[in-house]
Amino acid sequence: MSEQELEQKFNERIDRGEVIEAKDWMPERYRTQLIRMMSQHAHSEVVGMLPEGNWITRAPSLKRKAVLLAKVQDEAGHGLYIYSGTETLNISREEMLGAFLTGKAKYSSIFNYPTLTWADMGSIGWLVDGAAIVNQTALAKCSYGPYARAMVRICKEENFHHKQGYEILATLMKGTKEQREMAQESVNRFWWPALMMFGPHDAESPHSSDLLRWKVKLHSNDTLRQRFIDRTVPQAENIGITLPDPKLKFNPETKHYEHGDINWEEFYNVINGRGICNKERMKARRDAHVNGNWVREAAEAYAQKRNKLKAA
Ligand code: ACO
Repeated sequence: MSEQELEQKFNERIDRGEVIEAKDWMPERYRTQLIRMMSQHAHSEVVGMLPEGNWITRAPSLKRKAVLLAKVQDEAGHGLYIYSGTETLNISREEMLGAFLTGKAKYSSIFNYPTLTWADMGSIGWLVDGAAIVNQTALAKCSYGPYARAMVRICKEENFHHKQGYEILATLMKGTKEQREMAQESVNRFWWPALMMFGPHDAESPHSSDLLRWKVKLHSNDTLRQRFIDRTVPQAENIGITLPDPKLKFNPETKHYEHGDINWEEFYNVINGRGICNKERMKARRDAHVNGNWVREAAEAYAQKRNKLKAA
């Protein structure tokens, strides 16, 4: 079959809602777009351990510490599933990490914000993982099998993360005046960055048309952002948190919440390396990579030894 015929067959499979597997024929651009998106997703999970890892030693009780520790470990696991899923597209882990450590590949904007108070553990679980669930529940039905399957387990764990974050804030909101203020101040800082996680407006999103056509993305950036807002506003009201957007208003005709303008200048600054914590996050990951050299060397030496034994 010619390249054109193969592509037509591929598009027909996508139109029928079939799942594409690693060994199936796929257009080169489908493969490279998936590598871009999935590897950035994996990097995000791993960088995402840093802002919360920062609070493990300062959690206010043994129970909170155990939950936070489990959550941070879950994020490491998510990174590993997605790296493995991306490797099925014929790219090595070394190549992906190289692109990340040299700053060529991005990771989620949200992890470039600092975690200043314990309430931030609540905001990250409730808002950041809440946004991630909305995005990833859709990805669990995407056209690429290995990515979709990784998302199923990840979404289950993200649901637990979301609930524990909401419960931290609900508890603080039932506490002292200082605790309520801490919760509100944290949500004030995380609300807008959480909305930015969904990416630029649809009209400014260069990759959306390809990804939507191939059913990698099932919904646009703005659609998912709106879904997140519609779900989150009643949850905020339920625990007495005010979302920091005076324009937030329910429209009974559209049945959606209208919202104020997102600061896109801030978004582009953050994704281009000029956020509050970009330098610190990249330094932490680069140091971890260098400090892990001996583990990679030992694993390599062990593999060689085993191969020699097998061959003998
Ligand atoms: N943070 C960093 N970069 C972003 C973000 C963001 N929140 N949103 C968009 N971008 C980047 C894109 O990666 C792209 O840059 P690139 O060309 O250098 O790769 C550029 O902005 C333009 O954006 P889009 O055309 O809208 O990109 P895309 O169609 O890939 O949509 C999105 C972006 C929504 C993030 C999509 O890639 C996605 O759903 N990814 C999987 C989910 C994910 O990565 N989640 C990470 C956070 S969740 C967590 O870890 C808990």
